[in-house]
Amino acid sequence: MKLTFYGHATYSVEVNGKTFLFDPFFTGNPSVKNVDIDSIKADYLFITHGHGDHTGDLLRVAKKTGAQCVASAEIAGWLSKNGVERVHPLNHGGPKGFDFGKVRAVNAVHSSSFSDGSYAGNPLGFVFTTPGGNFYAAGDTALTMDMQLIPLWAKLEFAVLPIGGNYTMDPGDAIHASDFIKCNRIVGVHYNTWPIIAIDTDKAKADFKAAGKELLLPKPGETITL
Ligand code: NI
Ligand code: MN
Repeated sequence: MKLTFYGHATYSVEVNGKTFLFDPFFTGNPSVKNVDIDSIKADYLFITHGHGDHTGDLLRVAKKTGAQCVASAEIAGWLSKNGVERVHPLNHGGPKGFDFGKVRAVNAVHSSSFSDGSYAGNPLGFVFTTPGGNFYAAGDTALTMDMQLIPLWAKLEFAVLPIGGNYTMDPGDAIHASDFIKCNRIVGVHYNTWPIIAIDTDKAKADFKAAGKELLLPKPGETITL
């Protein structure tokens, strides 16, 4: 699997010949460097929740790529209302099969509304099980006991966790999350975009290492193989 980090909590994962793009936020994203938004390719768009730092360019990217959008029923309805055609609503529960494998929507302890204040459903994380590998995209979330359910469903190769604190887990809680999900290879996102979510990345990496884990922090624009 390959992961390309664009900045903040926007990234894509290539698995089984398909490209999944998560939470498209390019315009006004201080971390994004030299991205031509309209040339981005995606087969699937996964949206974890409605906040602007996850959906800022959602309509533009959904329409330009023609990707299959997967999100909460409420975000799916909002997409349809705004002229996006390939929309799949998902909520907590059993996994759903797609042409790449299966995805299960899991709990994220956060909130979810659009910038106009309208309700965007439950915030979600996604657990992917595919012949090319399994991974967990947590979305914005605090540490939650529900993460302990994930190993029942998937042996993960890696997980993408928010680590900036304030709105989500910080690095210390992400280490506990890594234990809960039984996965020692973590890609950190949602940090250092703004001062309110600034962290000491050297300390975070050292703390992960001391716990026998790996914290990967790809630079904006960087692609890593997992
Ligand atoms: Ni959020
Ligand atoms: Mn966020």
